[in-house]
Amino acid sequence: MNTQVDFEVLRRRFPVLARKTYLNSGSYCALADSVRDAIVAYMDDRLLVGANWDVWVMKNESVRSLMAQVLSVTPDEIAVTASASAGINALASALDFHGPRNKVVVSDFEFPTNAQIWHAQEPRGGRVVHVAPDADGYIPLEQFARVIDERTRLVAVTHVCYRNGARLDIAGIARMAHEKGALLLLDTYQAIGAMTVAPRELGADFVVGGMLKYLLGTAGIGFLYVRSELIGQLVPSNSGWFAQEDVGAMDITANRPSDSARRFEAGTPPVVNCYAAEAGLKIILEAGTDAIERRVRGLTRRCLDGLASIGWPAVTPDDDARRGPMVCVPSRHVPELFGKLMQQDIVTSFRDDNIRASIHFYNSTDDIDRFIETMARQRARHSRQR
Ligand SMILES: Cc1ncc(COP(=O)(O)O)c(C=O)c1O
Repeated sequence: MNTQVDFEVLRRRFPVLARKTYLNSGSYCALADSVRDAIVAYMDDRLLVGANWDVWVMKNESVRSLMAQVLSVTPDEIAVTASASAGINALASALDFHGPRNKVVVSDFEFPTNAQIWHAQEPRGGRVVHVAPDADGYIPLEQFARVIDERTRLVAVTHVCYRNGARLDIAGIARMAHEKGALLLLDTYQAIGAMTVAPRELGADFVVGGMLKYLLGTAGIGFLYVRSELIGQLVPSNSGWFAQEDVGAMDITANRPSDSARRFEAGTPPVVNCYAAEAGLKIILEAGTDAIERRVRGLTRRCLDGLASIGWPAVTPDDDARRGPMVCVPSRHVPELFGKLMQQDIVTSFRDDNIRASIHFYNSTDDIDRFIETMARQRARHSRQR
């Protein structure tokens, strides 16, 4: 990985940044020139060649292999999916909830899909238990320790909360799960691309994410990592022809799942999205996730300090180890504040009562300072602090 990357040069590859203060990567990334060119290349194929299946299938394989590099795992451990939900559903369909080990532990920080899909397993015998935050809004390890036990089959947790930017202690939760014989699923959607995510180091057995946010690709494509030792033990009932050992066999008499994580895929790959995702992943690998993480941590630090200096503290944890790339600020009239920021060409998003400033490597200190200056002017009307 390149630690000498020039982020100011990389920033020029995202045209919207010349016009907007774009603090919205937790919703949808800024579009890079090369990602746009990749989508145009697909269109040219369609116009001039018609169908180009051999190339398209290779694009899917390229995404698999680049995603494996980002996670420091092997391509055989990666399923390329249409969404995080698709990966979670495929995994759920392979788990058996009959018998005493039927509990799924989720946190109150989950994005809906990583709780709803587990609740959808209740008719199959699953039992979902939620872990709530402490009074300070964070969920420490002790809260997980109270519910993870010998009846737990799976702990399914988000890396970074989409509502408040808090980052969970995944390595600690994974250790706890494994001690009780449970498996760990990590939803890294709000972290991957902005931080180094290494499933083997974290102890995650499964990891899902999507490619439209910090991975710089597009909507309609995601991934599921499955630790190699587990693949052979899990047979998803959620399947399809691209999940088979031999996609070309066209055998309708049996289900013969691939011996790789491809068994968690389903139908025709999201071809155009593979073009965009491939180009996005290449930028992430060019910059290097360690360098990106350092840069993003510095920018979120500046943002938190700036907010504190104007007397409008964020709800995102101040501790570097407890936050991801998003800083969330509570407001009394959040849609109105969002609109005011938009009028100043500052693009954010909001959830609950929080404005979300989500920060990627292509943001600059000037972006953060502009955000803080504008927030300072809105403080009297919008901050809950007196
Ligand atoms: C943490 C998290 N998980 C999952 C998703 C969405 O998953 P899917 O790809 O199934 O739409 C999001 C989208 O914002 C998210 O923030």
